[in-house]
Amino acid sequence: MSTAANWWRGAVIYQVYPRSFADGNGDGIGDLAGIRARLDHLVELGVDAVWLSPWYPSPMADAGYDVADFRDIDPVFGTLDEAEALIAEAHERGIRIIIDIVPNHCSSAHPWFEAALAGGPERELFWFRPGRGPNGDQPPTDLRSIFGGSAWTRVADGEWYLHLFAPEQPDFNWAHPRVRAEFEDILRFWLDRGVDGIRIDSAALPVKDPALDGIEAYTDQDGVHDIYRSWRRVADSYPGDRVLIGEVWLPDRERFTNYLRADELHTAFNFDFLCCPWDAAALRECVDATLSAHAPVGAAATWVLSNHDVTRHVTRYGRVDSSFSFAGKREGVAADLQLGGVRARAAALLTLALPGSAYVYQGEELGLWEVEDIPYELRQDPMWHRSGHTDPGRDGCRVPLPWSGMEPPFGFSPAGAAAAPWLPQPPDWKDRTVQAQSGDPYSMLELYRKALRIRRAEPALGDGRMVWLPAPDGVLAFAREPEAAREAGFACVLNLSAAAVPLPAHGEVLLASGPLDGAALPVDTAAWLRLDS
Ligand code: GLC
Ligand code: CA
Repeated sequence: MSTAANWWRGAVIYQVYPRSFADGNGDGIGDLAGIRARLDHLVELGVDAVWLSPWYPSPMADAGYDVADFRDIDPVFGTLDEAEALIAEAHERGIRIIIDIVPNHCSSAHPWFEAALAGGPERELFWFRPGRGPNGDQPPTDLRSIFGGSAWTRVADGEWYLHLFAPEQPDFNWAHPRVRAEFEDILRFWLDRGVDGIRIDSAALPVKDPALDGIEAYTDQDGVHDIYRSWRRVADSYPGDRVLIGEVWLPDRERFTNYLRADELHTAFNFDFLCCPWDAAALRECVDATLSAHAPVGAAATWVLSNHDVTRHVTRYGRVDSSFSFAGKREGVAADLQLGGVRARAAALLTLALPGSAYVYQGEELGLWEVEDIPYELRQDPMWHRSGHTDPGRDGCRVPLPWSGMEPPFGFSPAGAAAAPWLPQPPDWKDRTVQAQSGDPYSMLELYRKALRIRRAEPALGDGRMVWLPAPDGVLAFAREPEAAREAGFACVLNLSAAAVPLPAHGEVLLASGPLDGAALPVDTAAWLRLDS
């Protein structure tokens, strides 16, 4: 494994969603045995690290983001011994492991919450309140859950408890020292087991204004930074660079970068970029704003196109409105998947050429699209259920991966598996399997493999600086500064205009997202160029 300090500043991090990556035992649900058996896919792809969505014991009311025990593995995924073996096997292959910690809430099946329901002193570890109205049968405040409906649920003795997400996800009271001590101990539990980083779920939400009224009562409260300062001290007390990565959704870029001060988190997901439409001016503004927000704190930017919560970008880029927002999600919005796929190829080269680290959400390297026709009765996401079925939910980006073969389960489960995949795979994924795409020079998979190979070998890529090059309207062109002055320059050019444009003067085309037209760069195409040879 590379021991380079600051490895995370330029890393390519692959998100594994364990339920949907690979099923080792044939029950239709992905598991650790499946991940261990498929590690070589990640080696061939060429990623530096893997972030695993939660693997803990959980009733799965929110697909594992409702954690019942932060120090063990859910039996559907495997055992703690298997997790330790997975960490070791990844390390042997030079791949770092990042796990997901959920500090804002736990599962209603967590022993602390069960003790709280039984009336124990654990009630103080959550937010319990009497109701309003003469009988206390009105919720304590009008706060809404992020998943829809009230953020309060009443318990048998008449009190109400707070849950920003599903009722099965009670919010911790971070004003209580026991909660703080517990999470530092949980961090140590996993850092002792060799994990290289922690992805922090809903990182801007844990600290609450006790008024608990309005979204400002839980969003980005100043006190949240104390938590991450103490977590940073824990991470820094371990050998090697152990990184803290925040899931911080905040519209205000300055407030966002507060999380990235030198004694807090190392990086945070760039959701502005993930939400940005396929538009040259908007993308350029997003890149500039990202870099200028990160510069004062010296933090590395990140670039993210998709994850387990949002519409897969092949679909998003195939829509008339190619931006993303949770509020904007609707059933039945048309998408041109062919167009989206062409743009997704170009977006991959853009993302992997920008300064900082990049995320690849499992299946993005296969060009998977959002599955929008999952039968209603098979949908599991609480966002679908709690929105009264107005929000299609997030199941469509969580469909099990296609690995091989001509029909479902496409090698996701072993041959002869007893159960079908937990969400149905589209039959059209037969040409999206790893097997079908391997060796096909025009496939998305080979594009990602080549891009990551070049990125590893190219000193100008990853962490560092960039400079915009002159380009026609609707075209983004930038050079990366090579670390060594003697290296020839590297540039990325992306044509978002309505017509082909001439490529700038260059020595060599290193990689293109689609066929070039002589010396012209077609619409929705990106190229990586060696400037002089
Ligand atoms: C984060 C996760 C999402 C989850 C929510 C509640 O946003 O990414 O999947 O539902 O937190 O834990
Ligand atoms: Ca399984």
